[in-house]
Formats: sequence, structure tokens, C-alpha cells
Amino acid sequence: MKIIKTIESYDLYRSSLKTQSLGFVATMGALHLGHISLVEQSLKNNQTTVVSIFINATQFDCINDLNNYPSALDNDLKLLKQAGVNAVFLPVYDGIYPDDYVFQIQENRLSKKLCGAYRDGHFDGVLTVVMKLLNIIKPTNAYFGEKDFQQLTLIKQMVSAFFINTVIVGCPIIREADGLAMSSRNLRLNKLQRQQAVLLYQTISSHKNIKQMRKKLTEIGFDVDYIEVMNDRLLVAAYLDEIRLIDNIEYKNMKEISA
Ligand code: PAJ
Repeated sequence: MKIIKTIESYDLYRSSLKTQSLGFVATMGALHLGHISLVEQSLKNNQTTVVSIFINATQFDCINDLNNYPSALDNDLKLLKQAGVNAVFLPVYDGIYPDDYVFQIQENRLSKKLCGAYRDGHFDGVLTVVMKLLNIIKPTNAYFGEKDFQQLTLIKQMVSAFFINTVIVGCPIIREADGLAMSSRNLRLNKLQRQQAVLLYQTISSHKNIKQMRKKLTEIGFDVDYIEVMNDRLLVAAYLDEIRLIDNIEYKNMKEISA
């Protein structure tokens, strides 16, 4: 597995590839089976798979969240090597943002709703870094999780709006045995919070109406940012103390719970 730290060395690597299809998975590290499921999907469908690990400071609206974001590079590299990844791209801030983020990608509709309404500038940071990574990596296919459903939707819309020559593939949410959606932030949950956290998924799967779900989550101890419908999905974001968890679930008949 090649470890590549600069755009110049990536360009050399990319032009040396004779492969027809290149799959790409963008991550911020502290990898778990959710990330690995995207990697496996990419390995299955492409001759070469590249994974990036970059904690993207511009998408954090809260400095504490950035400072507390888990990092586990040695273990991440071990997992990626075991999985059979061909190359890992590990850029630094100055490599990705030589302009210090004066140029940005902005979306003006969906990015202002749901998570965007609570995390100022979050999706500007996400879309800007994803655009840069797609331009650098030049993948045929790029894999993103439905765990971050709003992010996935915005990335699909951006790629279409800017005629980017990469297919964006959405991958299902991978959950712990008890249903909690896997997330790097779960590492920060203490024992009690971990027990509360699983009730987020159980509550949104409960087929109660949205008002009742919000009430239930508040009783459990969540500070709910939103619980809202987008197309055929119910999306939720809620805090346990300062740890923000998100999840979403597909409903065939959204009318049942929207009342
Ligand atoms: P990160 O949170 O590290 O997630 C990287 C990718 O893994 C995203 O596409 C995310 O949706 C997916 N993922 C995370 N948990 C998952 C789970 N339980 N099941 C399935 N997929 C899961 O999302 C980001 O990083 C960043 O915003 C990024 C796109 C890398 C831009 O900085």
C-alpha cells in the first residue's frame, strides 16, 4: 500500500496507473467498519482504490469538536492495508488549502437546512474539500455513506452542477449490533452515553409520530437539534452533552409519522 502525502506525488502515482477504474473513499480517519464498508464496495467495483485521511478543519464550526476529533493513524493504515487498499492520500492543511480557504464552494438551498441550520459553514467546508479531493484524486467512482445523508445528497448535486466526471455511489449505514450507527464520534461516548445513544436509532425506528419522537428523545436526555423529513428519509441530529450524533432511516410511508 502506497502512502502519498503531496499532490505532486499523487499526480505521479495517478499517471503511472494503467487501470481503467479508480475508486475513491474520502475519510477523516478514526476508521471503523462503516468506512471499511465503503472501501470494500470500492475494491469490488474498481481495479484501484485510493482512500484519503484528512481531518478537514474548515468543516468544523466548533473548535472543541475539531480539537476532540479522534485520530488513530497507525490503526487506520493497518485496517486499510488489511482490506487491500492500493494507496492512501494523507495531505496536510497547506497542501489542500494553499489559498488558506479564501476560495470556497457554497450551496444555497439544502446546505442551509437540517445540519446546515445548526452548523454554520459546515457544508461549505465539506463541499470545498470534496471538490478539491475529487480534482486531485480524479476517481472514476467515489463512495460516500448514507450515514451522512444530507452530505451525500449535496455531493451528488455538486458533482452534477459542476460537470465533474466521477460517479458518486451512496452506501448503506453500517450499525453496531444494537443498532447504533457507527461513527468516529462514538469513541467519545462514556458508558452511560453509549447506553443512551442506541435509543436514538430505536426512537426513530419506532413509528411514533415526529412530535412524540422528539419528546421521547428529550426525556432520554438528548438535546435535539432537529428531527425532520427529507424525501423518504427521517433525519435526526441530537446532542448527548457536547457529543453530536446524527442518524437517519428510510420510511416507505412517511405520512404515518409526519402527523
Ligand atoms: P467521515 O466522517 O470520516 O466519513 C467518511 C465517509 O464514511 C463518509 O462518506 C461517511 O458517510 C461514511 N460513513 C461514516 N460512518 C458510516 C457508517 N456507519 N455507515 C456507512 N458509512 C459511514 O464524512 C466525512 O468524513 C467528511 O465530511 C468527508 C466527506 C471526508 C469530507 O471531509
